[in-house]
Amino acid sequence: MTNKLRYFVANWKMFGHLNSLNSLNKVIKFKKKNKNAKNLKIIYCPPFTLIHPFIQKLKNTTIKTGAQNCSFGSNYGPPTGSINAMMIKSLKCEYVILGHSEKRAKGETDNIINRKIISALQNNLKVIFCIGETFGQRKKKLTKKTLLSQISKGLKKIKNKKNIIIAYEPVWSIGSGMIPKIEDLENTTRIIKLFLSNKMKYKNPKVLYGGSVNQKNVNLLKNITNLDGFLIGGASQNSNIFIDIIKKTFN
Ligand code: PGA
Repeated sequence: MTNKLRYFVANWKMFGHLNSLNSLNKVIKFKKKNKNAKNLKIIYCPPFTLIHPFIQKLKNTTIKTGAQNCSFGSNYGPPTGSINAMMIKSLKCEYVILGHSEKRAKGETDNIINRKIISALQNNLKVIFCIGETFGQRKKKLTKKTLLSQISKGLKKIKNKKNIIIAYEPVWSIGSGMIPKIEDLENTTRIIKLFLSNKMKYKNPKVLYGGSVNQKNVNLLKNITNLDGFLIGGASQNSNIFIDIIKKTFN
């Protein structure tokens, strides 16, 4: 069976410590043993402190590791508390989440995100590029305008987009338990994909949905035509729930 939903990205946010590594055992076993899981791309994005231990733990598996952000500077430099794409790549980490609304809310602009994406690509990281409208923008019917502007500005001057996956995460649905109406999500993801193919000249764009994905609503979300997977926050920290979500996309 082929699952069109191939990407399951676990965003652990500011959670996790060394003991959390034990919880990966179940997912490693599931990925190895379940024939439907073999071709999936399961990507863990733990906090920086756990990237190296995750890489070690996952090294003989097909599960990948990603960071949750990076600096836009490509060389070593003074910004205290920052980590750049080169340093992330040196750990053999393969992905990085950029443009997350929790960083945008702290002042990350489209321009900064664009510079980060360029730096990540130059360092051979694959990018999970987050876009999403706020509740206010949605109420004012600015969803489409907001998303297309975030995409155009975030991807400015980037020609080769094959290593950039888009994650559509409505800001109001993150951590809130609320998801968009399925027909709205059908419509929005169709608009995003068309824009990526027609205007941004993407060859085979990949679009994920993120925002309160859980083991209950995945039964609805899995039917969205244009989705290639999910970016999962809270629900990915519990291996049983994470596996349950993935399994529910199999039928
Ligand atoms: P959530 O987070 O699944 O907890 O809503 C998603 C995200 O922030 O990527």
